Amino acid sequence: MRLLNASGCLDALAAPGVARQLDAYVTKTITPLPREGNAPPRIAETAHGMLNAIGLANPGRERFVSHTLPRLTELLDIPIWVSVGGFSADDYAETCAGLDRDAVAVIELNLSCPNVDEAADGAAEIVAACRAVTAIPLYAKLSAAHPDVAAVATAVADAGADGLSLINTLRGSALDPRTLQPVLARTTGGLSGPSLKPIALATVHACYAATHLPIVGMGGVTTGQDALELVACGARDVALGTILFSDPDAPSRVRAELADASARVGVAGPDEAHAVAHDPERTPLRERSVTA
Ligand SMILES: Cc1cc2nc3c(=O)[nH]c(=O)nc-3n(C[C@H](O)[C@H](O)[C@H](O)COP(=O)(O)O)c2cc1C
Repeated sequence: MRLLNASGCLDALAAPGVARQLDAYVTKTITPLPREGNAPPRIAETAHGMLNAIGLANPGRERFVSHTLPRLTELLDIPIWVSVGGFSADDYAETCAGLDRDAVAVIELNLSCPNVDEAADGAAEIVAACRAVTAIPLYAKLSAAHPDVAAVATAVADAGADGLSLINTLRGSALDPRTLQPVLARTTGGLSGPSLKPIALATVHACYAATHLPIVGMGGVTTGQDALELVACGARDVALGTILFSDPDAPSRVRAELADASARVGVAGPDEAHAVAHDPERTPLRERSVTA
């Protein structure tokens, strides 16, 4: 199991020390043209998690390839995953075609941003267009808001995706209690943090059962136990998102906790717990209680 950051939750150029604790670094989503993102306020804290309506602020693909990517490569000794966004299959494919296989370990296709108004083409169509122009492994990042996310996972697998990233934020809103007006300028934002964990577990479980593709699990991970549970549902790797804003040492801490959490359920490490939630016969605790 590798530990990654979730896209948009860590600026490695500003905090390379945090990035170096990870097994791979995932960039913020890049789009064909530069985007300033949405108007402020675009972050709100709630009792249930964080809402963000950043809106894919990024320097655009040209500047990313000429400036940001070379600086990241120079600064980090770990594989770099590039998150790619857009508004049509051609947008995505043209960005993928411009990424160099030597500099980019994986392309994560962001097919699920809740903070932009433009509708993208269908997920499978985008994956197929990207598959046609690059040999770099493609991970499709899907939204748990889809009524049948396992069907989308199957469709992107058939279109050539090598893996899945699950889950993105889910659309939510917060009101100022004094004025009863939305806190965020665009009314809604993406909800992230601990409240996403049960949804992430269900989504990873369903998509693993449907595809058996490698999955990066994310959504509300704050502890090693959270990470282990995602692995048990079928995640091969785990990403840390919102927790990185409050705890920059989270990668090292989660790694140490993972070792303890694994020992508690009687496995040597997280890899031994992979997908055990699909198979009662492999449940470590059950085996232990049978032999005890
Ligand atoms: C401030 C912020 C910015 C984000 N930006 C992106 C992004 O650019 N691309 C993307 O695919 N996901 C983005 N996400 C979603 C995260 O990558 C992740 O899927 C989500 O936050 C769930 O994980 P968490 O609960 O651990 O934060 C962003 C999340 C936050 C909180």
